Amino acid sequence: MGHFLTTVVVVVVVAALLPILVLAAAKQHRDDKTTRLRFGGGGQFKILQVADMHYANGKTTACLDVLPAQMATCSDLNTTAFIQRMIQAEKPNFIVFTGDNIYGFDATDGAKSLDAAFAPAISSNIPWAAVLGNHDQESDLTREGVMKHIVGYKSTLSQLNPSDQDVIDGFGNYNLEVGGVQGTGFENKSVLNLYFLDSGDYSTVPSIRGYGWIKLSQQYWFRQTSAKLKKAYMKKPQAQKTPAPGLVYFHIPLPEFARFDSSNFTGVRQEGISSASVNSGFFTTMVEAGDVKAAFTGHDHLNDFCGKLTGINLCYAGGFGYHAYGKAGWDRRARVVEATLEKTETGGWGAVKSIKTWKRLDDQHLSTIDSQVLWTKSSAGARRKKHIGGP
Ligand SMILES: *[C@@H]1O[C@H](CO)[C@@H](O)[C@H](O)[C@H]1NC(C)=O
Ligand SMILES: *[C@@H]1O[C@H](CO)[C@@H](O)[C@H](O)[C@H]1NC(C)=O
Ligand SMILES: *[C@@H]1O[C@H](CO)[C@@H](O)[C@H](O)[C@H]1NC(C)=O
Repeated sequence: MGHFLTTVVVVVVVAALLPILVLAAAKQHRDDKTTRLRFGGGGQFKILQVADMHYANGKTTACLDVLPAQMATCSDLNTTAFIQRMIQAEKPNFIVFTGDNIYGFDATDGAKSLDAAFAPAISSNIPWAAVLGNHDQESDLTREGVMKHIVGYKSTLSQLNPSDQDVIDGFGNYNLEVGGVQGTGFENKSVLNLYFLDSGDYSTVPSIRGYGWIKLSQQYWFRQTSAKLKKAYMKKPQAQKTPAPGLVYFHIPLPEFARFDSSNFTGVRQEGISSASVNSGFFTTMVEAGDVKAAFTGHDHLNDFCGKLTGINLCYAGGFGYHAYGKAGWDRRARVVEATLEKTETGGWGAVKSIKTWKRLDDQHLSTIDSQVLWTKSSAGARRKKHIGGP
């Protein structure tokens, strides 16, 4: 009888505590997600961008636009192999998938296609995040359903939407902080900020044709978040004079991507810029925020350039997936971004000093092409000084 009572009491107490424990665990999990990324002891942080996997059913899904001799042996599994090779070659600290992760129209089971598409990232144990493209919801899952499925993976840092804004358009708007090196004065500061936005699929306004765009609700969230991060970065300890650099990832290019030609971009443009037919102002919002150094998209598989406008690099990754349109003989590719910290006077690691990018081709040697510096801290400071002293 005494045993029975003890058991009952224990069960009741545990049952009463359970919701609190679960809530605490959930909160811990969310906090982990925004604060888990950090620069390592080498002072570098490397991001692999995978654009437009267009994954469908795996082995039975044929490739598009490969050489006739390659057709027979080519499937979604080549997309899988390419990610595995990229992970092995670059050993990135973080992977970001910028939409059209699956080609929903040809995917029999959306959840299964997502599982297969992200499998190499999941099994690598490297933290990763994804945003939606315009094709992800074309199978049996809605855009919300796709994003909820993605957020459910244990290894992903993707989030459904910010918890501090009641109303926001789209699914998969969130930000991640990359902390400074542990044991340095920057260990509690986010020295690199990553923003992820849902650029939508298609216009829902009858009088406007074409693709979707980043809405005002999302830009409002972005502006608030950028301001909050800036404030934290510029206050003690280690108060900084300029905001930490920000990188923005989404699927559909902004209309401003059309402002370049081969004289002022690195890479190629082999097709038009398929942005929305209206300009919702996100580029201006980023310029105003002042922290963003580059925005990375996919969507146009035959464009892989980076061009700089008003201090912000606008970059494509180039098409990655084999069940996505491409150009036979023009290798599938991926973009890598690497941020490097500066050494402090005391020999530790400080703020981000420079951000570089390059691409890798899915050829025999995973050739590296188009290496370029996107941003350096010192040159930004020097340019500002010149302007102040000038006429
Ligand atoms: C796809 O993968 C198969 C099997 O590894 C390989 O033989 C083939 O060359 C690959 N095709 C392309 C276009 O990379
Ligand atoms: C960072 O935060 C931890 C925990 O609050 C604290 O112990 C540590 O001193 C802080 N580091 C710096 C450089 O402020
Ligand atoms: C790039 O160069 C072209 C002229 O070749 C010019 O029209 C365009 O404004 C330039 N774009 C930028 C962003 O500098």
